[in-house]
Order: sequence, then structure tokens, then C-alpha cells
Amino acid sequence: MPLPKINPETTAAWQELQHHHGHLCHIPMKKLFSEDANRAEKFHISWNDFLVDYSKNIITQETLDLLLKLTEEVQLKDAISKYFNGDAINATEKRAVLHTALRAPESAVINVDGENVVPEVYAVKNKIKAFTSEVIAGTRKGFTGKTFTDVVNIGIGGSDLGPAMVVEALKFYKNHLNVHFVSNVDGDHVNEVIKNLDPETTLFVVVSKTFTTQETLSNAETIRKWFLKSGKQEDVAKHFVAVSTNIKKVTEFGIDADNIFPMWDWVGGRFSLWSAVGLSIALAVGFENFDDLLKGANEMDEHFKSTEFNQNIPVVLALLSVWYNNFFGAETEALIPYSQYLNRLAPYLQQGTMESNGKYVDRNGNVVEYQTGTIIWGEPGTNSQHAFFQLIHQGTKLIPTDFIGFVKPLHGDWDHHDKLMSNFFAQTEALLNGKTGSQVQAEFDKMGVSSEEAKKLKPFKVFEGNKPTNSILIDKLSPKTLGSLIALYEHKIFVQGVIWNIYSFDQWGVELGKQLATSILDEINSGKVGNHDSSTSFLLKAFLAKK
Ligand code: F6P
Repeated sequence: MPLPKINPETTAAWQELQHHHGHLCHIPMKKLFSEDANRAEKFHISWNDFLVDYSKNIITQETLDLLLKLTEEVQLKDAISKYFNGDAINATEKRAVLHTALRAPESAVINVDGENVVPEVYAVKNKIKAFTSEVIAGTRKGFTGKTFTDVVNIGIGGSDLGPAMVVEALKFYKNHLNVHFVSNVDGDHVNEVIKNLDPETTLFVVVSKTFTTQETLSNAETIRKWFLKSGKQEDVAKHFVAVSTNIKKVTEFGIDADNIFPMWDWVGGRFSLWSAVGLSIALAVGFENFDDLLKGANEMDEHFKSTEFNQNIPVVLALLSVWYNNFFGAETEALIPYSQYLNRLAPYLQQGTMESNGKYVDRNGNVVEYQTGTIIWGEPGTNSQHAFFQLIHQGTKLIPTDFIGFVKPLHGDWDHHDKLMSNFFAQTEALLNGKTGSQVQAEFDKMGVSSEEAKKLKPFKVFEGNKPTNSILIDKLSPKTLGSLIALYEHKIFVQGVIWNIYSFDQWGVELGKQLATSILDEINSGKVGNHDSSTSFLLKAFLAKK
């Protein structure tokens, strides 16, 4: 059954939210805090190792009630059950969307076209377990009998960003294997990666759902040629494995049928790290940790599926995001993990969020008249504080920000960790309260600044505050909590797509550029520039003349 197709602007809740916004946008959060000593008590959710405090938002109970009313009117409950039940909710590609099945327990029954997919999922998981255990233990060896020391993941987009983010995030849990990532078709990327590698001890994992992606096939081809300078054709089988739905293309590329880890068209690329696309993760941290990642995601799935919406973390975060995006006109959202391990989280979620919800046509085929999509960006704190936080504090744009932090450090360095987390708390407090003119004046008085000088400087030193933040405080960064965190954001994306009445699981917008690049490459190869706009022709001619 398809997803409901309700234009959110036609709901009563939407109209009421608009009216409510007109009133609330004049009330500073500080006032809301001063009026209610229990605000944080009211506006937080504790779940497993997660504490989500969303009290530092420009909301009241009425805002939440109206947003919850919106979920009823757009039939979110119904949409969630279709999502988990394997209905073909990716309607433009006629596919189910079942990354949740990849982390379901073995006893689950999830049907796609009348067939339970869970046994297949577990067959592939067992294959991942067997393969990765052999590589890690050193019983699977390279063509000269040496054990593997390095792994190269060759993929792009969802076949790169997820594994790369998780391998980095779980560095603390990793084993002796060095895992590298090659994604860009830029030859300098692949050549930089292979220049220090030993073909005798390196395993290559070619990851491409379609196995038609130019970047991945070019990189795989370049690496195979490089490998064949040392090994023979029959040695390729020992060093190259593939993850794909396109078994025919993988075999044509020359990868042994035994070395193919299948995936399915009901797994979207940007949600695929839970499948064999996560092979590099399982190699880096071992299968048990990979499995824990999946378990953490499954726990978040259960929370999302079965918790009342007012206590449901992905739903509440999605609603707050809609509140700012559609009623305050916020253009972007920042994501600031207070963990250096999570330095790839924002780029990873950029694909998840922006490829999914960057759509201007609704599920009825009409152009939307409201803003969809969220622009996500961010870097770990505290680095980001010394880079772009100035604009969040004193710029002209409203940038709702998620702070993600951990109670415990992994290396036990409490001195650093307390400093790190004091910055986390200080920033959210500063963004809420800002600094008033009288506070600035008191500082000037203390420093003995002359009244003339104080008058001049004061406007620059005042912070308005009233900048919304969510604080996501997690006990510890572990495979399990990471799995829950990623799944949280996946479901947030889904909820927003449902509300905006768009199809979140296709990505037609990336096709045009790919098509044009293919024909332009022919022109570059032949040296004959075809028909283009004058700028593109001019640039191509200049490139050909100079190269
Ligand atoms: O960028 C478009 C896209 O199709 C992504 O959705 C996908 O993650 C990426 O390309 C890679 O695709 P594939 O895994 O098929 O090589």
C-alpha cells in the first residue's frame, strides 16, 4: 500500500501552527524558562543510554500538541507501519524500503512480495561473519601466503560514506587491519591511497549496489591494473570481493562468484551500511561489534515503532526540525558531535538527509509550495567553536543545532573529557541566554572601561541568544549506541518526508549530471566540443586547449 498523500498545508494543524508561530516568535526562550522551573523535566526524553533534552527550543506545550496533531493529520502512524512492513513506499521506483529488516532479529518475519526476507539477510550476515573472521584471524591469506594488513573499500555515496563514518567512529574498537576508502573518480585520490600499499597484503572490497557507478568501476579497474603488476589474473580472486545487487556485472568485472556479498533493491544506498555494504566495518572492528551496531539500530527501530509520539525521539526531533524549517524559515541545521570520532557524521547525514528529502514535487506529483529538505552541516566541537560558531551566536540566520555528547570518554582521560563537555554545556547555555546589554556593562564596569568606550563597544558584545538547540547526551560511544544514533537520524528523515508529502527514497536529481558527464567525456576524448550553452562550451574548449 502506498504512503498517504496529504498536503500538510491543507491540515488544520498547519494553519494553527502558523498562527501559533506568529505569537510565539515574540517570546524569548529565556522567558519560557523563567516561567517554568520544570521545563527541562517536561521537555526531555530518557531512553536506554540516551538523554535527549529539547527544552532549549522555541516551543511550549501547545507547540508540541499542534505538531503532534499534525502527525495525526498526515497519518504518520499508518506511514510508519507501511515503512516497517515492507510496503512499496518508494513508489517512483516501486520498491520497499527495508533497511530496518537488516537489523531485525532472526525470528522476525518481514515479507517483500510475499516472501520473508529475514532468512536471506541472515545468510548474508553469516557469510560476512565467516569471511571477516578468517581475514582478521589471518587464516585467509593473500596470493603469496601473507596475511592481510590493509583493506580498501572502493565505493561512493552510500557505498562509502556509511562505512567510512562508522569505521572512523569506532576506531577505538578496531583491530590490526588498516581500512582505507577510495571514492572520488579523481585519480589523485586512488593513487594517494594505493601508493603506500602492498598488493600482497591488501584486500579490496568493491561496493556498488548497481555496479554501474562510474567512479567505483574506474577506481576498481585502476586498482586491478595496479594489482596485476604484482599478481596474476588468478590471484584476483584472493584479493577482490564485491558487494552488489548486480551479480551479473560483478562477475563480468572478474570477481569470483564466491566473493560476492549480495544486497537487495529494497535497501537504499544511503541506508545500506547495515547490509554487506558494512563489510569494511566488520573487517575493521570484528563481526561482534558490527552485530552490536545492528542491535543498537534495531533497538531504536523498536523505540520508533512502538513509543507514543510525544516520547518518541526521532518523531520529536523531526517535528522540531519541521517547526523551524517551515514556520521560522530556518535554512539549515547544524550537527555538532562533541567527539572527534564522529567527525564524519555530518557528511554521512548530509547524504541521508539531503538526497532523501531534497525534493520539490510531492507524492501527488505537484510542485510543493512549502520548504522541504534540510541542509545539514557540522563539525565536531570544540573545533567548530573556533571556526563557525560565531555565526550561530551572532549571525543573522537562525540555525537550530543538535549537540551530541557522551558522558564517558573512551580513553578514560577525564581531564580532557570534562573540558570537552563543559564546552558542550556552555555553548547550549550561551545560545539560549546570550548576553544582555546590562551584563556587558557590568563586565565593562569591572574592567574599568570608560563610559565613552563602553557605549561604542556594547552593541558588538551583546548576544541575542534565543538560538534553539537539542542536547543528545549518550552514556558512551559504543557500536550499540552508535547504531541507535544513526537509526535515530534515519527515522527523523523518514518522518520529515512523510510530513512534507514527498518521496524520500528515490534520488532522480543525481541522474542528469551523470548523463551529461558521460556525453561530455566522449567529447573530451574525441576533442570535439558538442552543443552546449556558451559557458560550458567556452570552458570545455579552454580545458582542451590547456590540457
Ligand atoms: O549519488 C547517487 C547514488 O545512487 C547514491 O544514492 C548511491 O549511494 C551512490 O550513487 C552509489 O551507488 P552505487 O552503490 O550503486 O555505486
